[in-house]
Amino acid sequence: MNKIKEKLNTFIIERNQIVCVTCYDASFSKILNDIKIDIVLVGDSLGMVIQGKKDTHRVTMDDILYHVACVAENKSEYLLMADMPKNSYENSKIAYSNAKKLLDNKVDIVKIEYKEEYYEVIEYLVSKSIPVCAHIGLLPQYVLSKKDIRTYGKDKSESNKILDQAKKLDNLGVAMILLECVNSKLSKEITDSTKLPVIGIGSGKHCNGQVQVLYDLIGISDNPPKFSKDFLKEGGSIKSAIKEFYDYVKSIEN
Ligand code: KIV
Repeated sequence: MNKIKEKLNTFIIERNQIVCVTCYDASFSKILNDIKIDIVLVGDSLGMVIQGKKDTHRVTMDDILYHVACVAENKSEYLLMADMPKNSYENSKIAYSNAKKLLDNKVDIVKIEYKEEYYEVIEYLVSKSIPVCAHIGLLPQYVLSKKDIRTYGKDKSESNKILDQAKKLDNLGVAMILLECVNSKLSKEITDSTKLPVIGIGSGKHCNGQVQVLYDLIGISDNPPKFSKDFLKEGGSIKSAIKEFYDYVKSIEN
């Protein structure tokens, strides 16, 4: 087992909830590092919160690499995860070359929004020992209209499909699964029936950890999702707000 997977597995063995927060620059990276956030994600949400676009669709590999470089300046404790943006994993060769660029720039895990057609791409990355986090449920890179922004897995057939995807990815050997806007009952089923760490956003408490977009949890996003909470209201300062989120996640008992 590679080192990153080993480190992630200790969270499961020790029943220690994983705290993951997005980040795009060196100043916040330092704060997240000092608070001992477990995983920092350079997410393609930067398309919205940094670039002011309406979605993540036009974020490029160069954008991600630029923000990875900024964030990595102040990385020492946490695991660094980065999104593979849309059109950066069209086939195995392209995906490997882009994932390698991220790993060569201090990234520990790459995240890919999973669709069936990318099964072989992920299989290839795993065979090359690239730690992959498979993102399932709501896939922002493939959202076409507001109708796609909803909770996934409420009905039986969709729920079975997502559960099958999670089991397939677990057997394939991905390092982690991220559930976005997945029905809480289904999140529990996925977390209970897979061996690997499952982290969630808008997917209830029954995961092995929680992810939040940094700007949502400090209350400065323009249009935050319904499930997000402004921790700055209670925390009073940015550092305290992030620490409140950290303490909240660590206190979840499943
Ligand atoms: O890009 C991002 O910030 C993400 C989170 C929504 C998990 O993928």
